Amino acid sequence: MSPLLDVRGIAKRFGGLQAVGDLSFQLEAGEILALLGPNGAGKTTAFNMIAGYTRPDSGEILFQGRNIARARPWTICRAGIARTFQLSKPFADLTVIENLMVGGFARSRDASAIRDKAEAIADFLGMGRQADTEVQHLTAFDRRKLELGRALSTEPVLLLMDEVVAGATPAEGQEMVALVRRIRDRGVTILIVEHVMKVIMALSERVIVMESGRLIADGAPRDVVNQPEVLKAYFGEQYAAARA
Ligand SMILES: Nc1ncnc2c1ncn2[C@@H]1O[C@H](COP(=O)(O)OP(=O)(O)OP(=O)(O)O)[C@@H](O)[C@H]1O
Ligand SMILES: [Mg+2]
Repeated sequence: MSPLLDVRGIAKRFGGLQAVGDLSFQLEAGEILALLGPNGAGKTTAFNMIAGYTRPDSGEILFQGRNIARARPWTICRAGIARTFQLSKPFADLTVIENLMVGGFARSRDASAIRDKAEAIADFLGMGRQADTEVQHLTAFDRRKLELGRALSTEPVLLLMDEVVAGATPAEGQEMVALVRRIRDRGVTILIVEHVMKVIMALSERVIVMESGRLIADGAPRDVVNQPEVLKAYFGEQYAAARA
């Protein structure tokens, strides 16, 4: 069986900086794959290329067998890929429900059906009681959950999540882990960028690690975190050598 997502040698340069260079990896349907790497490794740039926000300079991105590497964000969204933003971008003066309805129009024009679906998502997020609250009055964590809900409202096959636990308390982190598991159990495949190791260990059977735009490791979390290349990327040469 061919993978759900097959990234083949994508690259992106910003001026003199090779943000992503020849990145290849595959994602199977039903997987939760974590994408790791130090700051500036190129993780968000890779997400932006998959979701169509940044056009790769070269390479192919096959989603369900179709090359989407030069498609526009809305085409990719309709094909079944949704993403959350590292810095969440809700419509601040709309309510929770209104924000959750926006994505529904990617799939349908029936406003009452879209509202029903938005209410179901609000309940799923545990935000049913805030349905009519304006986003500007939400806590930071509720905004993060809403960001996830906005992605879900487009009914994705593949969900790209960029640091959704950043800044959360441990309890909120656990709540997010439970939500992500339930999303996967509903049949959505997930690619997640995350720095919190506890979250990665709880969610993923496989992780890939980027450094300076390239893939340096691919495997089970426990194996990958002990590889010299990975230790060097995170902690520097001396630390890796001392551990070897
Ligand atoms: N639009 C842009 N123009 C110029 N340089 C950019 C642009 N976007 C990203 N970069 C640079 O590309 C490199 C990779 O950035 P990217 O945001 O993909 O990293 P990241 O792995 O997501 O980092 P972080 O963990 O900090 O979110 C960085 O050096 C960044 O400064
Ligand atoms: Mg990033």
